[in-house]
Amino acid sequence: MQVWNDYMLQNKERFLDELLDLLRIPSVSADSAYKADVARCADAVKENLLKAGVDKAEICPTDGHPIVYGEKIVDPSLPTVLVYGHYDVQPADPLELWHSGPFEPVIKDGKIFARGACDDKGQMFMHVKAFELMAKTDSLACNVKFMIEGEEEVGSSNLGIFLEKNKGRLKADIVLVSDTSMISMEHPSLETGLRGLAYMEVEVVGPNRDLHSGVYGGAVANPINILCKMIASLHDENNHITIPTFYDKVDELTTAERTALNTAPFDLKEYQDELGIKEVWGEKGYTTLERTGTRPTLDVNGIWGGYTGEGAKTVLPSKASAKISMRLVPHQTSDEISALFQKHFESIAPAGVTVKVTAHHGGEPVVTPTDSIAYKAAAKAIQTSFGKDPIPTRGGGSIPIVALFESTLGLKTVLMGFGLDNDNIHSPNEKYDVANYYKGIETIPYFHKYFAEMSK
Ligand code: BES
Ligand code: MN
Ligand code: MN
Repeated sequence: MQVWNDYMLQNKERFLDELLDLLRIPSVSADSAYKADVARCADAVKENLLKAGVDKAEICPTDGHPIVYGEKIVDPSLPTVLVYGHYDVQPADPLELWHSGPFEPVIKDGKIFARGACDDKGQMFMHVKAFELMAKTDSLACNVKFMIEGEEEVGSSNLGIFLEKNKGRLKADIVLVSDTSMISMEHPSLETGLRGLAYMEVEVVGPNRDLHSGVYGGAVANPINILCKMIASLHDENNHITIPTFYDKVDELTTAERTALNTAPFDLKEYQDELGIKEVWGEKGYTTLERTGTRPTLDVNGIWGGYTGEGAKTVLPSKASAKISMRLVPHQTSDEISALFQKHFESIAPAGVTVKVTAHHGGEPVVTPTDSIAYKAAAKAIQTSFGKDPIPTRGGGSIPIVALFESTLGLKTVLMGFGLDNDNIHSPNEKYDVANYYKGIETIPYFHKYFAEMSK
């Protein structure tokens, strides 16, 4: 629409500057040293919503970090879009690998480099700017509610409680989220699913103190050796997970579904080259797209124990630990899989050690419909702004709250992400292409327009 294009052209630089301001706030939710910064970021989001034209916005305190809520009710008879996003970010370490400060955003080669540039400040803020564009040009087709949280990266546990307590206020027709990836600017796509997550921590304890590895080595079980062996046994020679009954509830895709999934553009050589690996790895019998989109996985996220300082220390350590996460697919539940893991891991421990298993936060998998009005509106919005129909894909990441939108609020979600898989989210040198940021702001108003038209 011409008014939108004009408004965009006149305000482009400011849209970018305002995002950079938000990226300067180190809103790291996992680290309590940043608590005040997280709160400051929530305030900044609230102020941005007010400036953009919401009727009201407020900071909703929780037992953890605050949630920012804002709304504009244009006309109660219009459909309502609930926009969800998060303003918290992952820790920036390892700092030495960043080419510029994680909270000192720079633009290089058309890309914004900063922690949160893509995940999720950049993507969340597209909705604030798209809303401003619609509000200031008097073209809001739907009522809009914003719920922007500060604890997504630590499991959204307080947001679940907020949903329960605010069912009335959060009444809407659809949840719209930009916190996922698309294939590329040439091949726009819409994710139609997210994996669930079961996150475990394990500790293996051997002797009651660290020992001299010469005096005792070979005679006493070394907890690190044992832990490594136990972890290695969790995959078989075909890279299947060996936990009994782990796959029992996993649906096999039909041949037609597999064919459809694998028609998405994907270049294995490019994928490998970009990651600096000679070969991909994974469950035998499945393609890379199937492995990341439709199959459950088990990965060690961290492992520690013994001596890791400078030089050599001949020690037989008393303890070893690891953090292990599993990505889940439909019909697997995080509680059930956590329990299976715990039982299995304890059962494979040799007598010379004791094993402690604890579960961290989890999340349930989701599949979003592709035959709904909302999906069709998103597809048409992308067709309008990109000139191409989006390809439906299955995403490998997790946004645990999405399953609760359905179970608590009865709401379906549209995952309209504009990130790219190589945006380095959670990694040093996270980036978001300025072009993707602007494309998102351009596309979102069409979603509101088409969703309202198709809902009539
Ligand atoms: N935005 C991501 C999830 C994501 C990324 C989905 C890319 C699809 C494509 C989200 O912020 C995230 O990082 N989620 C965590 C889970 C959370 C409980 C820490 C994840 O997937 O590891
Ligand atoms: Mn995210
Ligand atoms: Mn994230």
